[in-house]
Amino acid sequence: MQTPKERIEWLREQLHKHNYNYYVLSQPTISDAEFDRMMRELIDLEAKYPEYYDPTSPSVRVGSDINKNFTQIAHRYPMLSLQNTYSEGEVADFYNRVKKALNEDFEIVCELKFDGTSISLIYEHKRLVRAVTRGDGKMGDDVTDNVRTIRSVPLILRGDDVPDYIEARGEVLMPWKVFEQLNKEREEQEEPLFANPRNAASGTLKLQDSRVVASRKLDSYIYYLLGDELPSDSHYENLQVARRWGLRVSDAIKKCKTLDEIFAYLKYWETERKKLPIATDGVVLKVDSLVQQRNLGNTSKFPRWAIAYKFNAEKALTRLISVSFQVGRTGAVTPVANLEPVLLSGTTVKRASLYNEDAINALDLHIGDMVYVEKGGEIIPKITGVNKSARSGGIGEKIRFTEKCPDCGAQLVRSEDEAIYYCPNSEGCPTQIKGRIEHFVTRKAMNIAIGPETISLLYEKGLVKDPADLYELKFEDLIHLERWAETSARNLLASIEKSKSVPYERVLYALGIRYVGETVAQKLAQAFPSIDLLAQATFEQLTAVEEIGDRIAQSVIDAFANPKFMDLVNRLRRHGLQFSLNDDALAAKTDKLKGKNIVISGTFQLHSRDEYKAMILQNGGKNSGSVSKNTDFILAGENMGPAKLEKAKKLGVKIIDEKTFLSMINSSDPA
Ligand code: IVH
Repeated sequence: MQTPKERIEWLREQLHKHNYNYYVLSQPTISDAEFDRMMRELIDLEAKYPEYYDPTSPSVRVGSDINKNFTQIAHRYPMLSLQNTYSEGEVADFYNRVKKALNEDFEIVCELKFDGTSISLIYEHKRLVRAVTRGDGKMGDDVTDNVRTIRSVPLILRGDDVPDYIEARGEVLMPWKVFEQLNKEREEQEEPLFANPRNAASGTLKLQDSRVVASRKLDSYIYYLLGDELPSDSHYENLQVARRWGLRVSDAIKKCKTLDEIFAYLKYWETERKKLPIATDGVVLKVDSLVQQRNLGNTSKFPRWAIAYKFNAEKALTRLISVSFQVGRTGAVTPVANLEPVLLSGTTVKRASLYNEDAINALDLHIGDMVYVEKGGEIIPKITGVNKSARSGGIGEKIRFTEKCPDCGAQLVRSEDEAIYYCPNSEGCPTQIKGRIEHFVTRKAMNIAIGPETISLLYEKGLVKDPADLYELKFEDLIHLERWAETSARNLLASIEKSKSVPYERVLYALGIRYVGETVAQKLAQAFPSIDLLAQATFEQLTAVEEIGDRIAQSVIDAFANPKFMDLVNRLRRHGLQFSLNDDALAAKTDKLKGKNIVISGTFQLHSRDEYKAMILQNGGKNSGSVSKNTDFILAGENMGPAKLEKAKKLGVKIIDEKTFLSMINSSDPA
């Protein structure tokens, strides 16, 4: 048993860590509900034992998403949050409070509560000059470059009635489809998954490389205007005007006079929201008149003129039978909860994700516990809490993260930055070995018609220990296997033979270099058209390629520095696999931009930015993100970034438009 002092210290340490994971890394490892529960326990204990007061306790500070790498900007108007309510009764209380305080007619605007991350868009003279995160409500991070990549955020407002200064507050979201795809890719790469689209959106906004942000296809909705010269006294009208200016405003807004109308809106959207392409977690109710809003005023944290009504998260209670640990092809070990089957939003749930060790400890999980599972935004259901009162009949064994690899028994190592355990025995751990072969043969990689069971069988018989062994299989090896007929043996060999013509970029993906997914492999293959060029690439050359960040670059370098990996590559090469771009792909390549350092800026009419980037690479040029004395020219579209323009002028860098660029690469002369 912990003493109160020990418990307080433990909670503080945990909460500090989770604050950091959530606000700085944008990578929470426990649910919000669990975090709140721990915070509440700490606050209660601190009230009970004031002798342990500490001014640096996480309870005395509200978290902030301020990240040191972004410039911090003070909000001209504070970014408040909303009081949450969970029942019609609480909504009625709000309505009656407003009615009493105003003592005159009023209207309530009902809107969806978007479940993303809040943003303040500042427009001066119609132009987007800054986009700032909420931060601690007073100061936020300048994420302008990243927000500029969001297509639904206009860079210039339209119309003649736009005030010189306007702040549009709204939410940045990651659509479900994009979120699912992103997580699928992360799963393939065995990177930690985003728990929900909200975390994915806020994590994306904090990326250092706005090119990656652009590829993540974020969306946005505006829900409030601020400024000294707003178009109307009505919030509802202001949003209509905002829409006319080109800002994205949801159609699901309704002005209501009575509580019954409000309840009808809540009821309608409770189910209808599930058809939307983006996540919503409730409804926001706002007094329509800005004068009335001002009269009602704010508390230190919340406006008195608005509240949030939260939809019920779909939850189920079931028993935890056991926890199993799985090791993947890169050696990462993940815990999975096995549950008594329970029905949750239309599907039977038997397993739930437990993320990592921190998540298990925070839940204080024991075998036999009654646990809450939620599907909320997640693809994989997760355990969000334990019903501890159900433990009266006794308590099962405490769940501890395994110290040994569930497959080969090797002592696991913990990577501190990711809070993940790895099995270090990559050469001897059967699951990792088989996992690498399974990855190698998948459809998007070598597309060899062989399933996991056959791979297992061939591995156990000692016939295949790595992907290259597949190419050494003989008809006699297969035909002697139990239940193998001649046709299946011939089919497999034919499929293996056929894979020798799979293009280079897919071979590169098949090699299973950590963090090199399908898209990254394509980018690398374009930039380094043969494996030898890739093997010699320096860190700087790698990171100069679109979407290749430090982590991927380092992983590529590590792979080629590993003699075992090189040995595999060389054996595969001897078997005739494609290790360079084929003639068609090479034909598209020219040297016209050879040695040229090109920066892209602004928005374009004729091609997308990505297309221009591809053209630069295809013609031997290098695309870099910032203007320097090494820049040969800037390919500029409309609204070139003011900082880039200034720098270009200062350094005397040439600026060319898209037409000039296209004629440059399409002409028969070298540029
Ligand atoms: S209005 C002072 N409207 O919810 C009023 N907020 O818990 C400011 N949110 O930080 C907020 N949809 O990020 C408002 N239709 C909506 C919203 C909305 C989502 C978020 C917003 C805010 C949080 C408040």
